[in-house]
Amino acid sequence: MKNLIQSVLILIPVLLSTTGAEEVIYAQLGDTVSFKPPVDPQSKIYYLYWYFGNLELAWRNTFGATGFNKDNWNNTLSLSDDTLIIKNFQHFGTFVCKLIKGRDTVVGSRIYKVLKLNVNMNPPNPVLLDESLSLTCSVESPKKPQIHWLNPQKEKLKSNQGRLTLSATGQHNGQWTCVVTDDGRESKAEVSVMVIYLLPPPSRTQYTSKSSPLTIPCSYPSHIPWEKIKSKGIQQVHWDFLPGSTLNSGDPQRLYSLSLEEKPTWEADQDRGLNPVQNTMKGNLSLTRKQGNEEDGGDYTCTLKFKNGVTLSRTVHVNVLQIISSAGTDLISGQQVNLSCSIGRPLPSELRVKWFPPTRSSQPSLLSDHHPAHLAIPEVGTGDGGKWRCELWQNNTRLTSAVITLKIEPKTTVWMLVIICSVTAIVALLLILALVLCRRRQQKMRHLRHRLCQCKNPKPKGFYRT
Ligand SMILES: *[C@@H]1O[C@H](CO)[C@@H](O)[C@H](O)[C@H]1NC(C)=O
Ligand SMILES: *[C@@H]1O[C@H](CO)[C@@H](O)[C@H](O)[C@H]1NC(C)=O
Repeated sequence: MKNLIQSVLILIPVLLSTTGAEEVIYAQLGDTVSFKPPVDPQSKIYYLYWYFGNLELAWRNTFGATGFNKDNWNNTLSLSDDTLIIKNFQHFGTFVCKLIKGRDTVVGSRIYKVLKLNVNMNPPNPVLLDESLSLTCSVESPKKPQIHWLNPQKEKLKSNQGRLTLSATGQHNGQWTCVVTDDGRESKAEVSVMVIYLLPPPSRTQYTSKSSPLTIPCSYPSHIPWEKIKSKGIQQVHWDFLPGSTLNSGDPQRLYSLSLEEKPTWEADQDRGLNPVQNTMKGNLSLTRKQGNEEDGGDYTCTLKFKNGVTLSRTVHVNVLQIISSAGTDLISGQQVNLSCSIGRPLPSELRVKWFPPTRSSQPSLLSDHHPAHLAIPEVGTGDGGKWRCELWQNNTRLTSAVITLKIEPKTTVWMLVIICSVTAIVALLLILALVLCRRRQQKMRHLRHRLCQCKNPKPKGFYRT
């Protein structure tokens, strides 16, 4: 009994606050709209009915069974936790939810007014960088609810009665939300904006060397399909190269052009051994090569030209790091040599170099932390032979590195060569002398024998004549 009184006491204010309560819902055509019942009827002691005007849409009985209107509303209605959900919303107007007890005692009801929220974008997607873009958000309501916009970064923007006019930038890419506030309740509608622009490269200056890869970046946002870019009237896509320093003026070389056929393909002009990465369709227009070379330094520009005269382009400057030896790479120990780690012009102050000499080398100038870009070695030793590496750093980032291999002949070989030559010469002389002496001795011996012979066997004269 006490329990019953308690629950009645609790129920009265709930019913009072819910009966006849009206809720305004703002929705876009095709949205999914949900209608929460006036009380939390988990206990299932009431029947629930939903109507659109006089048309019964759905019901739920006290055993939890449900039923839906099949005409016109087929497959768009469902119930979830006693909340009616309408998909692909088409019917603006007044909806009612009734709580019925027993046969037909209405113990609670709620009216939902669904008003049309219009969100519009002009021109339609995609828009080009700097193109004027207007977003409008309006409601078909006698009341004037408050409207504001959220940009893709979720920052609140003031609008002129729901209307925003912008000059398109890369930051505008993404989901925009119109927020309608009525009686403290917020309704939201979203519109997705697609701005065609070229992403800023990770750095405007790239570094490479003979022992590092070279990648020249250029890309547009990967969520923009190529078809959309075509629909905006793309006329040309190309890469150009202007060799030398930024100050160099002259005619750039055309490296590549994109043929704008069904499937876009790059056509090489003077490709300089560079290759386009193979996902042009996904926004990556970058060029790359496994290794850099000395002639790669210069400005690389990728350009997108549209029919209406709009040109999007990005330029990247490439610097090539190399180690230059003042005396070449074949050295003799004791020789003076200067090594410089260079990009062909003085290094900007924010960059520094780090040397990695061969392990057996001990150059006093490299003992401190500060490594000079120009290394003066008054006398190279044999320990200095081998690979010298120089790395280019910016703050805590290694930009690239270059390598040189020095061959150092020990100086002593020259003296040894002299000694070996002299010894050989002396030995040869001695041999010749020995030979000559020997010959002489032999001749003398023969002469002597000849004489002895004559006296031992005298020729008999005239005895055996017949
Ligand atoms: C484009 O491709 C290059 C090479 O594969 C890669 O390094 C770069 O990160 C890519 N860029 C984008 C924006 O995906
Ligand atoms: C090496 O550099 C020093 C100055 O640092 C210079 O006096 C010398 O002439 C240079 N030597 C060679 C071989 O270039």
